[in-house]
Amino acid sequence: MSLKTEVLNYLCAHDDEYVSGEALAQKFDKSRAAVWKAIKSLQSDGVHIEAVTNRGYRLLPDNDIFDGETIKKDIDFDCRVVFYDSIDSTNTQAKRMISDGADDVFLVVAAEQTAGRGRQGKSFYSPADTGVYMTFVVHPNTALQNAVGITTAACVAVCRAIEKITDITPQIKWVNDVYVNGKKICGILTEAVTDFETQTVSSVVIGIGINISTEYFPDGIENASSLNVNVKRAQLVSAVANELNRLVRSPFSDYIDYYREHSMLIGEDIYFIKNGEKTYAKALAIDSDGALEVELENGEKETLRSGEITVRKK
Ligand code: BTN
Repeated sequence: MSLKTEVLNYLCAHDDEYVSGEALAQKFDKSRAAVWKAIKSLQSDGVHIEAVTNRGYRLLPDNDIFDGETIKKDIDFDCRVVFYDSIDSTNTQAKRMISDGADDVFLVVAAEQTAGRGRQGKSFYSPADTGVYMTFVVHPNTALQNAVGITTAACVAVCRAIEKITDITPQIKWVNDVYVNGKKICGILTEAVTDFETQTVSSVVIGIGINISTEYFPDGIENASSLNVNVKRAQLVSAVANELNRLVRSPFSDYIDYYREHSMLIGEDIYFIKNGEKTYAKALAIDSDGALEVELENGEKETLRSGEITVRKK
């Protein structure tokens, strides 16, 4: 670990006090000049460190420090956290780790993704430092039908975490997009790793991308936005992981009411693609399995268990 990282971690752990240059030099067995250089370099990276003569250095509370240690500090269960400043995709990395033998509960987090993946083979725009990109991995060893609820759990976990640390009340667009003020601020991609021998889902890879302050989205990404509030990225990731860890171990009935209450679709005119054709309908309800009940234009009822729907503009 570089001196810079060591100094930062130490200041993080002692953020309610001033730490002298002398104390840091002794702690890391370096000269005071080397400590001063590390502090200057952190400040030029944008870390807000106050320096007071005769007292020392203190990390200011307005910092948004985003690294594995800061995330891990607020996680309330046993979980390995693997952090990257930049990676192709946290889901892809999680799957690589599983195929290399990882069988523990772990979280992969990145400040940027260079090849973020969305549902239906689409890409997920994941610019540096303006969002959080995280993948939580559990190993349920269960039949596929028992694992499908996890995607609903992920959506509820994101909404609860947002409600816990901001004043925002998010909404859910079935199946698992999170919206604020009519725009998508979070996408979820859940992937199953199956065991051919036992015909079970051995691992579930739950990928979550939340836009926090992304202002501009590339052409072709419609209706996307960001939370646009002052949140600490590490705090948001830990809060989502804590909620998710509880929900994936809870029965569906524990959180389906919350999911329903936050649904933005009920009563809306929608369409979906069926046999290659746009099919118009009205969204009626979310049933106890999380499926969407709709009424088609000819008055027939239908239950959608998966897929994408679009809300028709009024
Ligand atoms: C979607 O809206 O289509 C789903 C987007 C899922 C994006 C997240 S970001 C973290 C994880 N890694 C990925 O490559 N994708 C998911």
